[in-house]
Amino acid sequence: MSHKNIKYKNPGSSSTTRFEKIHTIVFDNKKTAEFLVADEIIKLIRKNNKKNKTTVLGLATGSSPIGIYKQLIDFHKKEKITFKNVVTFNLDEYYGIEKNHNQSYHQFMDEKLFNHIDINRDNIYIPDGELNKNTIENFCKNYEKKIDSYGGIDIQILGIGSNGHIGFNEPGSNSNSVTRLVKLDYQTRNDARLDFNGIKNVPSSAITMGIKTILKSKRIILMAWGLGKSNAVKKAVEFKQNVKVPASLLQSHDNVSFILDKNSASLLTRISEPWQVGQQILDEEMINRSIHWLSAKVEKPILRLSENDYNQNNLSELLVNKSHYNHNLDVFNKLQRTITGWPGGKPKADDTYRPERKHPAKKRIIIFSPHPDDDVVSMGGTFDRLVSQGHEVHVAYQTSGNIAVSNEEVLKFVELYEDFFDRSSNFINELKKLLSDKKKIINDKRVRKLASLIREKESLAATRFIGLPDSNVHFLSLPFYETGKIKKNEPSKKDLDIMCDLIKSVKPHQIFAAGDLADPHGTHKVCIELLFDCLKKLKKLDFMKDCWVWLYRGAWHEWDTHEIDMAVPLSPEQVLRKRRAIFYHQSQNNSVMFQGDDEREFWQRVEQRNREIAIRYNELGTADYQAMETFRRYYF
Ligand code: F6R
Repeated sequence: MSHKNIKYKNPGSSSTTRFEKIHTIVFDNKKTAEFLVADEIIKLIRKNNKKNKTTVLGLATGSSPIGIYKQLIDFHKKEKITFKNVVTFNLDEYYGIEKNHNQSYHQFMDEKLFNHIDINRDNIYIPDGELNKNTIENFCKNYEKKIDSYGGIDIQILGIGSNGHIGFNEPGSNSNSVTRLVKLDYQTRNDARLDFNGIKNVPSSAITMGIKTILKSKRIILMAWGLGKSNAVKKAVEFKQNVKVPASLLQSHDNVSFILDKNSASLLTRISEPWQVGQQILDEEMINRSIHWLSAKVEKPILRLSENDYNQNNLSELLVNKSHYNHNLDVFNKLQRTITGWPGGKPKADDTYRPERKHPAKKRIIIFSPHPDDDVVSMGGTFDRLVSQGHEVHVAYQTSGNIAVSNEEVLKFVELYEDFFDRSSNFINELKKLLSDKKKIINDKRVRKLASLIREKESLAATRFIGLPDSNVHFLSLPFYETGKIKKNEPSKKDLDIMCDLIKSVKPHQIFAAGDLADPHGTHKVCIELLFDCLKKLKKLDFMKDCWVWLYRGAWHEWDTHEIDMAVPLSPEQVLRKRRAIFYHQSQNNSVMFQGDDEREFWQRVEQRNREIAIRYNELGTADYQAMETFRRYYF
């Protein structure tokens, strides 16, 4: 792609950005953004090279700057830009790991940048993670002095942690902090768990430049990509400066830019509530969204919103061509019509305003479940209805989910086998020895196979309880997942073919799938992208023209009410049935391996979530249901 003539654009009129305390630019295309940042760096290097002057760069690691480093390498190779006069200071390094450890930031920088440019090795400075504790303080002082001796950093590149950290300045770091040894936050360590094959292997401390060190840079560019960063970005850009969100301390710098993609910027007021900053309300989707927002803001059901409510909350524009009363009615009706007890369509009923078609009365349906319990956790009630309403339902478990079975659980079955069959053998003893370490993830084919089988049997118990024949349960065991480690492979054609083959053999009228896109590394994201690729590939086939796709959300997130196209209410009894179906996944109860910082069991989280969305519907003015499962239609 040629980006030659692209420039940073002004973010818009000042009223659009009036909540933003930092210069922020949002890009549709991440590659364009990366090019512009690289271009700014190269321009400075070029200018300084001409005068034989040193350029001092502050560099970050992590996923955010990788694209920029690629572009810098491109500039070096294609346009012969030399880095001989460049000096670099890295923000941080894990403490207690060796420079040649595959996750050290020394390795990262060599791989992603230094090995591919002509930088002088003596000009590279990275905090040393191998130091003796008693030499750290001195090292840090010298690091600061070294930066000063070059006249400070010209351009500092930053990423942002999901907790708002910059460098490893975790929440609580103040604006006077300098280079030092710090403890890492739980959230930071959890975010790094994939790289270290489990949180317990992630170092607990690091050496990092301080906030003051960063603020001394002449120019600061922070990049953030993806939904996972949206919360931190919102707080850093729009909230008051606060040590709880270290990136917000950048507000005091007078030459800083945040470079964002649409996802990381999605919570900024100009994007999430554009009417608040004088943006025009352009389409039905925005009207719907703004009225749901208004109802929550003034705490009134939709049908009770008054003309005054619209006028006092920046929505008077909506009243130019249509009365508030008609808006209320339209948006309420739309919401009301999302509710159905017939997720596969109601036979013989008028389906003009129903979320699903009535024909064919008996549909073929595939529920794609990334792990072997997402089906019941996320849509157990709907699943139950689809089966009891006579549809031909298939469940496809995309991955084996074997990493989430604890060693204690596998050991239980090994011992059961040994005792019941009275068979001690070398094989059994070897397995028992391997499994004696409760926490380690064991990359042994036999252990992983046993863990997969445990999850398969649990899934079958749950699907039998719901009334599905075993022949309709498909264990796809997608190969991308089978690494024996937490970190997975990139999905390949093999994965895609397995998914597409199932769709071609069932020829479904409905597909349900987990639509979680927030986690950039997660299995759910890979699974949904594989489905989207299949849909693209199979789109032209005749049966696909009659196939509707519905996305559900996993255990953690819920759709916003304005995004929902179908809401399936659950009675108190159905909630209990769903709970029972979840309980069959015994290996996932009792504090599973990947609980995160939420101590609740899956069934508790999801029951609460299903209850909360029913309460939200009720607050918007619909009837008072016990619980609801919600879906968004995906058009392809
Ligand atoms: C890296 C660093 C961190 C990262 C931040 C975002 O040197 O200091 O502050 O910039 O954790 O990480 P990614 O880019 O991987 O999301």
